[in-house]
Amino acid sequence: MLENSDIVVEALCKVFKKGKPDEVRAVDGVGFSIRKGELFGLLGPNGAGKTTLIKCISTLLIPDGGSASVGGFDIKREPLRVRQHIGVLTGGERSLYWKLTPVENLRYFATLYGVPRKVIKDRIDYLLDLMGLTDKASVRVEKLSSGMKQKLSLARVLAHDPPILLVDEPTLGLDPYFARFIRDFIKNELNKKLHKTILLTTHYMDEADELCDRIAFMNRGKIEALDTPDRLKQSMPQKQTLEIKCQGTLEKETFSDVREAASINISHEDGFVYLRMNTDNPEVILSSIIELIREKAQIFSVRVTVPTLEDVFVHLTGASLKDG
Ligand SMILES: Nc1ncnc2c1ncn2[C@@H]1O[C@H](COP(=O)(O)OP(=O)(O)O)[C@@H](O)[C@H]1O
Ligand SMILES: [Mg+2]
Repeated sequence: MLENSDIVVEALCKVFKKGKPDEVRAVDGVGFSIRKGELFGLLGPNGAGKTTLIKCISTLLIPDGGSASVGGFDIKREPLRVRQHIGVLTGGERSLYWKLTPVENLRYFATLYGVPRKVIKDRIDYLLDLMGLTDKASVRVEKLSSGMKQKLSLARVLAHDPPILLVDEPTLGLDPYFARFIRDFIKNELNKKLHKTILLTTHYMDEADELCDRIAFMNRGKIEALDTPDRLKQSMPQKQTLEIKCQGTLEKETFSDVREAASINISHEDGFVYLRMNTDNPEVILSSIIELIREKAQIFSVRVTVPTLEDVFVHLTGASLKDG
C-alpha cells in the first residue's frame, strides 16, 4: 500500500465469457494509484472497460487477476470495509426507489449504511439543502426530472459520508444545466471543499480536462497513458495548429520556402480554402505566410489551436473518444 494513496490498483484483470470464442478482456492488466484528495479521471470510449473497472474496485465484481485496495482495505479480503469507505454512483441505473420521496430514499440508504439514527435527520436535511432539493423533499421520485434524479442519486451516495467516491459517467444524458451543476458540485463541493478522493469515469474529454487532476486514458481494457491534462497535451509532437481560411487559389508550392512547410495541408471545404499547418511558434511564421497568401487569395480568418485531449487520445491509440 502506497502511503497517501486511497486507491491502489495493480495488474487488475476482468475477463467475460472466459475461454469462449467471444471472450472479452474488459479490464486487461490495469494499474494506477490515486492519492488522498485527488480527483482522478478514467477517460475512454464506450466499451473501454471503465464501468467494469469501477465494479471491480467497488467489490460488485470479482476480478480474475491482480489486486486493488481502497482506503487501505483489500477488495478481496475485506470487501465490507471497502464498501463502508466508498460511495458509488453508477450511471444509467435505477439506484433510487421511484415510489418513495427523496427524504424516504435518503432515510432508507442512510439506515442501510448504518448511519446512527440520531444524526440521520440532520444528514438528510443537509444533503437536500446541498443539492437544492429541499422543496422537492416530499415529492415522489418518479415525478422528478432526470437532472433532479441524478442530484438525488448523488445525495444518496453521500448518505454515509464516505471519504472515497467512485462516479461512473455522472453527466451522461443530462441536459447542459444539470450537467454543469453536477460537474461544479463534484469539483468544488466534493473534491475541493469536502476533500473527497474521487475516481470519475467519462467519455467526455472536456469533462475530464476541466475536472481532473490526473487522467488515465483507457482503451480496450488497458491504460494507454496517465498524466495531468496539461502534460498529456504537451506530450503531443505538434504543439499548435495554425489555420487560415481564405478564398482564391492556393497551392502547396507557394509556401515551399516557409519553415515547417512540410506540415502544410490545403483543403477545400464549403467554398473556402483552408490552410492548416502544425507549428511550434505560429507568431514567427504568420506574417510571411499571410504575405504569400495575399498574392493569391482573400483571407477571412486566422486561428491558432492547441491540441485537445481528443487529439492526444487519437494520437496514442488511433481510436476516437466519440461514440461508434
Ligand atoms: N456482464 C458482461 N458480460 C459480457 N461482456 C461484458 C459484460 N459487461 C461488460 N462487458 C463487455 O466488456 C467491455 C467493457 O465494457 P464496460 O466496462 O461497460 O466499458 P465502458 O464502461 O468503458 O463503456 C465491453 O466490450 C462490454 O461489452
Ligand atoms: Mg460505462
